[in-house]
Amino acid sequence: MFAKGILVAALMLGSSAVMAKTCDVELEANDAMSFNTKELKVDGDCTEAKLTLKHVGKMPKSAMGHNVVITKTDDFKKVAKAAGKVSAEDNYVPKDDARVLAHTKLIGGGESDTITIPLDKFEKGGDYTFFCSFPGHWSVMKGKLIFG
Ligand code: CO
Repeated sequence: MFAKGILVAALMLGSSAVMAKTCDVELEANDAMSFNTKELKVDGDCTEAKLTLKHVGKMPKSAMGHNVVITKTDDFKKVAKAAGKVSAEDNYVPKDDARVLAHTKLIGGGESDTITIPLDKFEKGGDYTFFCSFPGHWSVMKGKLIFG
């Protein structure tokens, strides 16, 4: 009995290590240029995060557009500044920039965007920042992504 119990436990551990676990993460942005949280939490056992950004305001994206860009905190300011040189059509996100770990598209009031982020490139306990890269927004529309 005892040995069988250990075997079952070992098999369960083995299967959970390869099983995908998708975790939902939600974030709201508004017409007052702010997110509804300064901290996004993703459990360490998640293998991917399904992130939904919802713009609960009414203003168009040309005036009050929002997105979510995720980088290491060390890269945040450099990427935010580089984003200022990118067009709205490209979501204010530098193209082919390895520092950008994930990003949604740019949206306006009443819109939402959902992306799936593989978490294998995120370290548990690492220091990550999420922000809106619309020009002028990143200094206030930012927070920490906690993975672990
Ligand atoms: Co914004």
